[in-house]
Amino acid sequence: MLPAWLDLESRPTSRIISLLCPELMSVVPDICTGKGEAMLPTNIVTTRLYLREPCVSDASRLFRAYTTDTEVSRYLVWRPHNAITEAVEFIAICIEAWGDRTHFPYVITLAGNEQEPIGMVEARPKGHTVDLGYVLARRFWGQGIMTEALVELTERCLAQPEYYRVQATCDVENLASARLLEKAGFSREGRLERYALHPNIGPEPRACFMYARCR
Ligand SMILES: CC(C)(COP(=O)(O)OP(=O)(O)OC[C@H]1O[C@@H](n2cnc3c(N)ncnc32)[C@H](O)[C@@H]1OP(=O)(O)O)[C@@H](O)C(=O)NCCC(=O)NCCS
Repeated sequence: MLPAWLDLESRPTSRIISLLCPELMSVVPDICTGKGEAMLPTNIVTTRLYLREPCVSDASRLFRAYTTDTEVSRYLVWRPHNAITEAVEFIAICIEAWGDRTHFPYVITLAGNEQEPIGMVEARPKGHTVDLGYVLARRFWGQGIMTEALVELTERCLAQPEYYRVQATCDVENLASARLLEKAGFSREGRLERYALHPNIGPEPRACFMYARCR
């Protein structure tokens, strides 16, 4: 039996076209968008970065880069990985998501070293809104890398006729994330009490700030 992500018969039309005849994706977007959802690009280039669809070999590289790092996962909804199988499972889910076009997890790499993931950014569309999540390996923090990735991805989302709002939430204590969102042009819209579970901090739901950029 084929792994789920290779099973073309279970894929929407969009995935089959993208695999067999990728050039058609830009020509016939209505066919390619499957259930009517917008199509985000599979690759995004910025000045320093190359964002791309994940592939199977990213699992071990992400595991080495940051998925075991407790500092990185502190304000996130997942627990740090203990074994590489967890990273393999995670990447399989990401590949599946692209196949189904339910959400769009990009691996972030440095331009010129596109094999080596240094982080991830994910766009999760729901109706006219896209929710963003993001994470970067610790040794790349503080160089404006995530600002660069978020600005470009947000602009790509807002360029789609379907999307009017791009939003992100962060734990009220995640100062780096809040600052990043402000630098990327997001406005803080409010504080959501008991909004998210961040299990690496504690078992109770925590307050988050809601940020958004709209057109
Ligand atoms: C949040 C994260 C993605 C930021 O990525 P990054 O590439 O370092 O972000 P940038 O360099 O573009 O911008 C970060 C800004 O926050 C600032 N910052 C960092 N730590 C800070 C702190 N403790 N308090 C205040 N500001 C802080 C940086 O100085 C920078 O602002 P500046 O350019 O004005 O100096 C990265 O820290 C990360 O991966 N953290 C762990 C995962 C995570 O928390 N993800 C977000 C979940 S909501």
